[in-house]
Amino acid sequence: MIIGNWKLYPATLAEAEKLFRMIAHAAVSARGVRVGVCVPAAYLPALARLRERGAILGAQDVSVEKEGAFTGEISASMLASCGAKMVIIGHSERRARGERDEDVAKKLRGALAASLVPILCVGERERGSEGEHIAFVHHQLLAALRGIPRAKAVSLVIAYEPIWAIGKNATRAATAVEALEMSIVIRRTLAELFGRAVADQIPILYGGSVDAKNADAFLDPTTGMNGLLVGRASLSPAVFAKIIVAGTLRSSTRVGMAKRKK
Ligand code: PGA
Repeated sequence: MIIGNWKLYPATLAEAEKLFRMIAHAAVSARGVRVGVCVPAAYLPALARLRERGAILGAQDVSVEKEGAFTGEISASMLASCGAKMVIIGHSERRARGERDEDVAKKLRGALAASLVPILCVGERERGSEGEHIAFVHHQLLAALRGIPRAKAVSLVIAYEPIWAIGKNATRAATAVEALEMSIVIRRTLAELFGRAVADQIPILYGGSVDAKNADAFLDPTTGMNGLLVGRASLSPAVFAKIIVAGTLRSSTRVGMAKRKK
């Protein structure tokens, strides 16, 4: 699964349409990889009308509220009716603007009720020598997911996005070993909440300074990751297309290995 997060870009609908078309065309022939783009909500209806088959549309946030006197808010059912199939929830850039764990939990339930796939973002601000980042992510997951029924949990996606690895101010991307460590923590927490069989079905994505050069390393099955959440690099169709190709190659290797095992 390879998902782009456009954040507050591009500046106009015309640019958004062009970018989305190029990404969808790059994705339409990608075998074994689900490609999606989480776009500014204002662009959703127009992009949905393009009827591109290659890429799934998503939003970047959702209101905690269903309806009412809440100026400026956009509900899960509004997003769904404008063409969104998924929504990012709990991104660190939303949490930095005051979103609390309880808001994340409510948004997640609202998204599920509207049949949107929630992409729940978790990740620590910094790594501690005592493993504090592990406890932190474990807590974020429990706070967001406790009480979700197993039947609903199968449609979740989790994105591990360490804050120190995100965006222009990132010091570096995580290493494959750091990604592996956290994929184990996340998978175990999911198993604790929903049982092993459900936990194994939930994709875990890595996000934070993913580009065409490092994408393949994060898609290596030994990291335990099942895909990528890509910010800056998803705004360049050429770079994003290379990341999709890396996903396709990894997917065909996995299929080949599975066949050989049989
Ligand atoms: P980045 O952002 O790829 O630009 O680091 C990732 C994200 O915030 O989802």
